[in-house]
Amino acid sequence: MRLSVIGCGYLGAVHAAAMASLGHDVVGVDTDAAKVEALSAGRAPFFEPGLPELLEAGVASGRLRFTTDIAEARGAAVHFIAVGTPQRRDSDAADLTFVDAAVNALAPHLASGDVVAGKSTVPVGTAARLASRLADTGATLVWNPEFLREGWAVEDTLRPDRLVVGAPDGEAGAAAVALLQQAYAEPIATGSPFLVTDLATAELVKVAANAFLATKISFINAMAEIAETVGADVSHLADALGYDDRIGRRFLGAGIGFGGGCLPKDIRAFAARAEELGRGESIAFLREVDEINLRRRTRAVQLVVEALGGSVHRKRITVLGAAFKPHSDDVRDSPALEVAVRLHGLGAEVRVTDPQAIENARRVHPHLTYVADRDAAITDADAIVLVTEWDEYRRELTPEHASSLTAGRVIVDGRNCLDPAAWRAAGWQYEGLGRR
Ligand code: UDX
Repeated sequence: MRLSVIGCGYLGAVHAAAMASLGHDVVGVDTDAAKVEALSAGRAPFFEPGLPELLEAGVASGRLRFTTDIAEARGAAVHFIAVGTPQRRDSDAADLTFVDAAVNALAPHLASGDVVAGKSTVPVGTAARLASRLADTGATLVWNPEFLREGWAVEDTLRPDRLVVGAPDGEAGAAAVALLQQAYAEPIATGSPFLVTDLATAELVKVAANAFLATKISFINAMAEIAETVGADVSHLADALGYDDRIGRRFLGAGIGFGGGCLPKDIRAFAARAEELGRGESIAFLREVDEINLRRRTRAVQLVVEALGGSVHRKRITVLGAAFKPHSDDVRDSPALEVAVRLHGLGAEVRVTDPQAIENARRVHPHLTYVADRDAAITDADAIVLVTEWDEYRRELTPEHASSLTAGRVIVDGRNCLDPAAWRAAGWQYEGLGRR
C-alpha cells in the first residue's frame, strides 16, 4: 500500500520505518529539513534500539523516503498524522497547533476515499472536529492511537499488543477500517487484537491507558511515603502485591517517579479536558497523581541531603542517569535530570553521566557538568545518586568496584533497583525511596 506519515518525530519516524518494513511504500513528511535529511540518509535523529537498522533497510529498498513537501503525500491510501501534542505554555491543556497545521496542509492533497488516520494523542473531541474540517475533501478521518514505549518503539509498532481504530458509522467508516486492516495485515495475522470503536472511544483509550499507568506508579509511590513513615519496605510490598495477578508487578516500581514526553503531559491534558467538559471531578484524582509524582523528586533530593549530614554544599555528587528512563536519550520532564539540577542548585558539585542522554541534557541544562565515562564520573565522589536504571548502573556497577573509586560511601537509589544488603555489606550507607 502507499502510505504517508505526517510528522517524523519519535512516533512518526518509527511508524514510517516500521510500515516500510512491513512491505508498504511510505513517504514521511516533516517541516524540519534537518530531520528529513538525517532520515533520508537512514540516520535516526534520536536513540531508539532497532530503528537505525529499519531506516537503513527501508531507505535502501526504495520503499521509504522522507520529504518536507507535503504534496508528495498525494496518492497515498492512508495518511497517518503523527505530529506532537505538547503541553501548552499557558495551561495544562494540549497544544493542538501541530495537529491542526498538519491536517490543514494535507487537506488540498487529499482525494475522495483517502483515509486520514490520526495517531497523535489528543483531547477527546478533536477527531470529530477534524472530521468536519475534512468533510469537503471526501477523505475519511479515523483515529488510530499509538501506544509505543520509548526504547521498545520498534517492537511495539511491529507487534502491538492491540490495534485500535475509531471510525465513523456507515460505509465510508467501514471502508476506512478495511484499509487500516490491510495496512496492519501482518501484525493482525501474528495475533495483535484489532478493535474497532467510535472516534471518541479511540481517543479516550490512549489517554485512559496513560492515566492508568501514571496512577499505578503514583499509587506505589504513595505507599512509599507511608512505608517511609512506618519503617516498611515498599519494594517488598510491591513484590507481594504483584503476585496478585489482578494487580500485577509491572509499573509498581517505586522511586523518583514518571517523566518523559507522554505520561506527565497526557494526564494534565486529560484533567484539563475533563474540566472543559464539566467533568473535572471524574478525574480530579489525576491532579493528586501528578502531585505525588512530583513530590518524589523532592524526597530524593532530601534523602541525599540527609545522607550527607544535612548539607550538600560543595559535596561531590555523581548522578547516574539523565534520561527519563533507560534505553532512551529523552530528557523531556526527566525526574533524573531534575534531581541533578536541584542538587546543583543546593551548591553540590554535581557530575552527571548517562550512556545516551548527555547531549540532550547538556542542551537543556548547559550549566551542569557532564562526564561520559561512568567510572570517571564516580571517581572521588562523596555520594552516588542513581536516578535512571540503566544496566550499566544497576547490574554492572558493584559496590566493591565503586569503593575502589569514590571518596565517600553513600549511595542513594532513586529507582530502588540495587540490592541494599550487598551495598551495606560492602560498607556503604544505602538509601532507597520507601525502603528501610
Ligand atoms: C508511555 C506509555 O507506556 C506508552 O504506552 C505511551 O504510548 C507513551 O507513554 P514511555 O513514556 O515511553 O511510554 O515510558 P514508560 O515506559 O511508560 O515509562 C514512563 C515513566 O514511568 C518513566 O519515567 C519510568 O521511569 C516511570 N516508571 C515506569 C516508574 O517510575 N515506575 C514503574 O514501575 C514504571
